[in-house]
Amino acid sequence: MRIGILNSGGDCPGLNAVIHGVVGAAHTLGWEVVGFRDGFEGLLPPGDYMMLDPDKTIGIMKLGGTILGTTNKGHFVAKVGEGNVSQVPVEIVEKAKSTLRHLEIGALIVVGGDGSLTTGLQLYQMGIPVIGVPKTIDNDIQATATSFGFDSAVATVVDALDRLHTTAESHKRVIVLEVMGRHAGWIALYGGMAGGADIILLPEIPFSLEHVAKAVRKRDAAGRHSTLVVVAEGARIETGELLTKERVGGKGEDRLGGIGDHVSKQIEKLTGKETRACTLGHLQRGGAPTALDRILGIRFGAKAVDLIEQGSFGRMVSYQQYQVGDVSIEEAVHQLRLVSNDSEIVKAARAIGITFGDQ
Ligand code: F6P
Repeated sequence: MRIGILNSGGDCPGLNAVIHGVVGAAHTLGWEVVGFRDGFEGLLPPGDYMMLDPDKTIGIMKLGGTILGTTNKGHFVAKVGEGNVSQVPVEIVEKAKSTLRHLEIGALIVVGGDGSLTTGLQLYQMGIPVIGVPKTIDNDIQATATSFGFDSAVATVVDALDRLHTTAESHKRVIVLEVMGRHAGWIALYGGMAGGADIILLPEIPFSLEHVAKAVRKRDAAGRHSTLVVVAEGARIETGELLTKERVGGKGEDRLGGIGDHVSKQIEKLTGKETRACTLGHLQRGGAPTALDRILGIRFGAKAVDLIEQGSFGRMVSYQQYQVGDVSIEEAVHQLRLVSNDSEIVKAARAIGITFGDQ
């Protein structure tokens, strides 16, 4: 048996741990593993790939990024604009099929987020035996309670906030930290709580800058002259608009960014307090995965091989109730897991005095 694996979409800490898991589990079964380079693009004839065996993957688990490379652009993009679906052209899928046939690959593991799994689903529906592995620092795939990469991204946010605390305090400033997460506020919520932020602004909880300014003034009056604000890149300004760095139209998903600067300027205007903005950006995607993400990556990889052995194609590995199981890819895509205003975690944050700018 020979199987293929590719990573697609944005990279994230833990991708190499998945490759390590897949190669290890496949090797135990006596299978060969072909790693395609640069996402689905590696499937285009004649195929851009490398043979993976335990000798090649030794020590990769602790590395950030992916030894296979990845892209969120190219011929196989299935999510465009603000998350609309487009169909991968039939002739492109046929090219991918011919490469897989030529290399005698019996199954393809697609490691990706919502967009890449949407492509994976389309390939499966057009006859390729696909297994999906969820990958997202945003933690926004509904069908899995979590995914590798999220914990590492949160750790980076916490480290940044620990540093921003000291400088904000020295200068009695407000500092606004913009974090990733696309349309979900998980990185902002977890990172903000663990990093001791005072105000957290999320896509899921509409906020008003008047409420934010009120919270800053209240802290000042209580003798707390510095304030840390975490804002998710997908949080909307008061008119409901998303701020973007780049609109890419039919070529992929729009690039979000700019809300941190906007919020920072408005806070300074409304409170008169000196305010600075900091955008954490791709630091959240780079670097070594945490222990949790390495373990999740290995378990997801081993489970993907197990699903191939069972012949359960069209399935996605999923983490639920402390167990790694599986769901159909169809059920998993286009359903974003978002923060709920009524959730226990938001209540806990409010209970300790964190403001979400909604009251
Ligand atoms: O989906 C992961 C993610 O890091 C988002 O949080 C962010 O909006 C986006 O990817 C950034 O993508 P790019 O690397 O293309 O700028």
